[in-house]
Amino acid sequence: MQQDLFSLADDSGLEAVAGGRGRRLGSGTVLLPGLALAEAPNLVAEIGSIARVAPFRNMLTPGGQAMSVAMTNCGPLGWVSDRAGYRYQANDPDSGQPWPAMPAAFGQLASAAAALAGFADFVPDACLINRYLPGARMSLHQDRDERDFSQPIVSVSLGLSANFQLAGETRSGPRLRLPLVHGDVLVWGGPDRLRFHGVQSIAAGEHPLTGACRYNLTFRRAT
Ligand code: SIN
Ligand code: FE2
Repeated sequence: MQQDLFSLADDSGLEAVAGGRGRRLGSGTVLLPGLALAEAPNLVAEIGSIARVAPFRNMLTPGGQAMSVAMTNCGPLGWVSDRAGYRYQANDPDSGQPWPAMPAAFGQLASAAAALAGFADFVPDACLINRYLPGARMSLHQDRDERDFSQPIVSVSLGLSANFQLAGETRSGPRLRLPLVHGDVLVWGGPDRLRFHGVQSIAAGEHPLTGACRYNLTFRRAT
């Protein structure tokens, strides 16, 4: 059973970090509400440019099921899934071409967010771009296809809101249900690097910047 530990609507009990710009959700987990807000129009425009070169696609799980979340990537390495499994690769499997370059604004935001959360010198070499239409969801998983778990995960939410689920290092423990809204940035790393996480089915809606869609940028150091 899912257990709501607390709602971020009432975050008064959480430790403020980064000069009040962040809220600590765990020893290595920091929410930076609205950190990407000012940059969001530019980020969404860049997503459009990337998707013209490397279109969103519903990848297959190793079991052969199409994911409800559509994905593309930018940067030196992209995360892919198919019947052969999960991995990072330099080329888009659909085109054989390298993934589009990571826009400077993406890397800068990711490094700044990581630093605010206490992870200095984070330089991502992979940016997975997730597109959730209403009804899309991502089941609880760990990010463990990267080589160096000392590097954090930086996750940027754009467009429609999501209910993010954050568990511990086991699937079965208590889960925090964390509303993520447009512009929020969530960082987890260090002792929290292997926390299970997922996204509940996105509710129908319209966002002025993205329309009926949520985007998530997940920045990682894959190598
Ligand atoms: C992911 O875990 O890859 C996606 C997280 C999110 O969409 O917020
Ligand atoms: Fe993930």
